[in-house]
Amino acid sequence: MKSFNFPKDFLWGTATAGHQIEGNNTNSDWWAWEKRDKKKDKNTRINNRSKWPLEASGIACDSYNRYEEDFDYCVKLNNNAVRIGVEWARIEPQKGVYDQKEIDHYKKVLKAAKDRNLKTYVTLFHFVLPKWLADQGGWTKTKTIRHFEAFSKKCAQEFGDLIDVYLTINEPQVYAAVSYLVGMWPPQKNSLILGSWVQINLIRGHIASYKAIKKVNQNYKVGIVKNIVWHQTTPEHFNPFDFLVAKFLYFLNTDFILRPINKYTDLIGVNYYFTNQIKNFKPRNPNDRVSDFGWWLYPKGLEKVLIDLKRFNKPIYITENGISDAQDRQRTWFLKECLKSCANAIEKGADLRGYFHWSLMDNYEWAEGYKQKFGLIEINRHNNLERKPRPSFNAYAQICKSGTIN
Ligand code: BGC
Repeated sequence: MKSFNFPKDFLWGTATAGHQIEGNNTNSDWWAWEKRDKKKDKNTRINNRSKWPLEASGIACDSYNRYEEDFDYCVKLNNNAVRIGVEWARIEPQKGVYDQKEIDHYKKVLKAAKDRNLKTYVTLFHFVLPKWLADQGGWTKTKTIRHFEAFSKKCAQEFGDLIDVYLTINEPQVYAAVSYLVGMWPPQKNSLILGSWVQINLIRGHIASYKAIKKVNQNYKVGIVKNIVWHQTTPEHFNPFDFLVAKFLYFLNTDFILRPINKYTDLIGVNYYFTNQIKNFKPRNPNDRVSDFGWWLYPKGLEKVLIDLKRFNKPIYITENGISDAQDRQRTWFLKECLKSCANAIEKGADLRGYFHWSLMDNYEWAEGYKQKFGLIEINRHNNLERKPRPSFNAYAQICKSGTIN
């Protein structure tokens, strides 16, 4: 590929989420679940239920206190934007009771980002609920939509244009599947009905949140974050049935969520990590290159996703893309190849406006604890959470500075 210059106003950033980096998110459902007595957990038909999570989040990266240091690294990366999250459990620790101290804390965080000329993309719900709400049934209950609507309104009123883009919900399908179908995350249910119902409530939650924020100020920008897995057949083994399976799974992954919300979103946030190749009705990936997580590294899939999404006629942001790679052996390669995919897609007419790498630093990878390392910065968990940029950090900083990929 010849060298490609990204548009001048292209956004370059990294992404994180509150619970994964802040530490001590004590009023949340995750915190309670991480601390539960695992011995009392009965095994279900899904093996090893009581094994999860591998460890508790604890102090995480202490970014609740060290956010300025973190944003300084964003500046060193030559970034002009950052994606972070606010934690609902901090802001509304009890039903209908908002904690002004925590709201003021997040205002300071957002100002600190703004002071460094970082545009703020902020997620309102990233897998973690206030405990009181989870105890009432969380997203299985319709009334949670009303709570989320009220919470979104409160955020818009309090944070206003300290937030450049409100991202309502992170990966509705992943949350519904892993918490309610696979049973790996709280509340560890194994039910197709609940999994599907939760997805529907999350769609309704997004729409309610969008409307609530727009009611506060019509000019506020609101979007959703969607994980997208490209699905294709094995090139050397074309089978029309596999082709249909791939099409159907991709449809479920995209249209099922993006169609009903299309009128109620200003942009689409895309999280891309891998592709599934279907052979004999099942994903059979070649796995020629895999991450520490075992995910197949196929950057070309991102280009295909971006080109396909043109049909939704919305600005697109990559809100997450990255790799678990403790030794930092493949991160720079993956990052560059994914950016080439972005460049190709832009050349073919995709309205891609920004890229947020997951993640700025190693963080709490949910049920996997701290085992999976997604960071451009390594966190030394044995030495005061010292931040140490990996070589890929410098590679990304260079790309962001030049706005060029070749
Ligand atoms: C989530 C992140 C997670 C990342 C890597 C996404 O599904 O939004 O919270 O850490 O993938 O697994």
